[in-house]
Amino acid sequence: MDGYTACSATGATSPVDSLIDIDELKQDVAAQPYTFSYQNGRRYASSDFGHYYMPNDAPEIHRLNEQHFILTTAKGGNLHNAPLPQKDGLRVLDIGCGSGIWCLQMAEDYPDAMIVGMDVSPIQPKSKPANVEWIVHDMEQEWPFAEEYFDFVHLSLVHGCVVDWEQMMRKIVSHLAPGGYVEHQEFSLCRQYMLDADGRRMPMPDSLDELPPFFRWGRLMEHAAEKRGRVLQLGPRLFAFQQTAGLQDVTDEVHQIPTGTWSADPQQRMLGARMMLSALQGMEGFTTIMFTKALGWSLPDTQAFVDEVKRDLRDDGMRKAMDLHVVYGRKADHGESIEVRREEEVQRPEEAWKGLLGSRSVQFAGGMLAGAAAAGVVALWLMRRR
Ligand SMILES: C[S@@+](CC[C@H](N)C(=O)[O-])C[C@H]1O[C@@H](n2cnc3c(N)ncnc32)[C@H](O)[C@@H]1O
Repeated sequence: MDGYTACSATGATSPVDSLIDIDELKQDVAAQPYTFSYQNGRRYASSDFGHYYMPNDAPEIHRLNEQHFILTTAKGGNLHNAPLPQKDGLRVLDIGCGSGIWCLQMAEDYPDAMIVGMDVSPIQPKSKPANVEWIVHDMEQEWPFAEEYFDFVHLSLVHGCVVDWEQMMRKIVSHLAPGGYVEHQEFSLCRQYMLDADGRRMPMPDSLDELPPFFRWGRLMEHAAEKRGRVLQLGPRLFAFQQTAGLQDVTDEVHQIPTGTWSADPQQRMLGARMMLSALQGMEGFTTIMFTKALGWSLPDTQAFVDEVKRDLRDDGMRKAMDLHVVYGRKADHGESIEVRREEEVQRPEEAWKGLLGSRSVQFAGGMLAGAAAAGVVALWLMRRR
């Protein structure tokens, strides 16, 4: 595992002041060579690290890189939307960094920053700039960093990876320096929807049997993830996660991303085409472990259902779309008074954005009253329609 720093669940290092004690950790790597596991012709993370349901082989790495392009394009070409602290030597952590592409681009944009990518799979490029470090580590275990170490913690699409989000958010905040930011982005993956010809969100049937296979897939994935105890449907919950964790100025951006080439807008059509190709490419990887292990389906039944889902994915008669939530919040400075709320107390004004006509991006900031938010959303919609 040259080029990687491994922190196994069992051999976790003590918190360090310098970023990582490379020499000590390299001994760990030598002592515990990384062994990938294999199932149904796909490569997965080492069984020592356990729980992740997606493969980590070359097709998946390509898909992650493609998805990164989709995510950054949807966010206006930005790698992050949180306003980062203005200082040299920013310390940045990307949790579940996947192919490492976000870290590499951050290192380019912030040459004075130190970027750490943490993942259970050592699939990131060995050739990297000096201001990037990869660590092989399970985010659910203790982290080998000092408290209040990072200025920015980033998470992207770590759905289905975490049992206890309250505990995870507490850990993230404890490793965040005062004034630092968390940015977390997730799809509303299990609640994708259709739009009518005027861009209005169409009501979807509640009954599983009445849903077309593509939308049934989302509900079944949600059910499978719940059975595994690692929630997949995260996007709409991120706002509450951050408020509950005591972060301040929490902002929830909702970006609507099309799937398919149905949009008349060239940029949206390009994004939708890439989204469709990415979903087609990832569909077996997403589904196989979830359906066969959590739902108890046979492999042939799973494959036959995946074929039906792919048919819907290619069908532009269905104007499919999905929300991406990009949520960021700031850790209070020492001495700053903070407002902490329990998840059930945090009400996102969901109905206001669910019925929104044709909007591609809506923002909510913490502390807004639902009525004010709804009024703002309608105003935004009217502006966009002009
Ligand atoms: C869907 S991928 C997203 C990758 C990247 N963040 C992106 O947006 O392209 C999820 C990543 O989380 C990693 N992961 C899953 N469980 C993890 C855990 N317990 N600790 C660290 N990484 C984990 C997976 O190995 C995978 O690379």
